[in-house]
Amino acid sequence: MKILMVCLGNICRSPIAHGLLQQKIKSEGLKWEVDSAGTSRYHLGDLPDRRSIEEMDKHGIDIRSQRSRQIGLSDLDYYDLILVMDSSNYNDVIHLSQDKNHHDKIKLILNFVNPGQNRSVPDPYYGGGFGCVYDLLNEATDRIIEMYK
Ligand code: 4NP
Repeated sequence: MKILMVCLGNICRSPIAHGLLQQKIKSEGLKWEVDSAGTSRYHLGDLPDRRSIEEMDKHGIDIRSQRSRQIGLSDLDYYDLILVMDSSNYNDVIHLSQDKNHHDKIKLILNFVNPGQNRSVPDPYYGGGFGCVYDLLNEATDRIIEMYK
């Protein structure tokens, strides 16, 4: 299983999702691959946001080796699942591709927690709420591991 986590900047939400799933893959001994990317180029090459790093530090997960990158068409071929944080990410990623085969792999990550409800992980960049983002993504990544392992 190859999974790509996607948000707008690839510095707040998707790095947390990436770090959480990576840690769970390791502790379950799974041979999965996980990465993350942003729909924008705003933070290309940057470390995760300091607040994401600090939130993950509280839970013993170091995400300082991550760097922001932008999602590209080749990611849609390579990954089995492209998990987006909100509806705006969903529309941006869908519009990257005209290929219907790609569309089936693009999913809102919180639909693993609340199927069919199309909920979004709130963007914490301006207003904060990194603890809430962690909690939502911790539950979602548990469900993903249970579903595909
Ligand atoms: P993320 O948060 O999409 O969770 O990484 C954001 C990061 C940067 C910006 C917006 C959201 N920005 O506007 O620069």
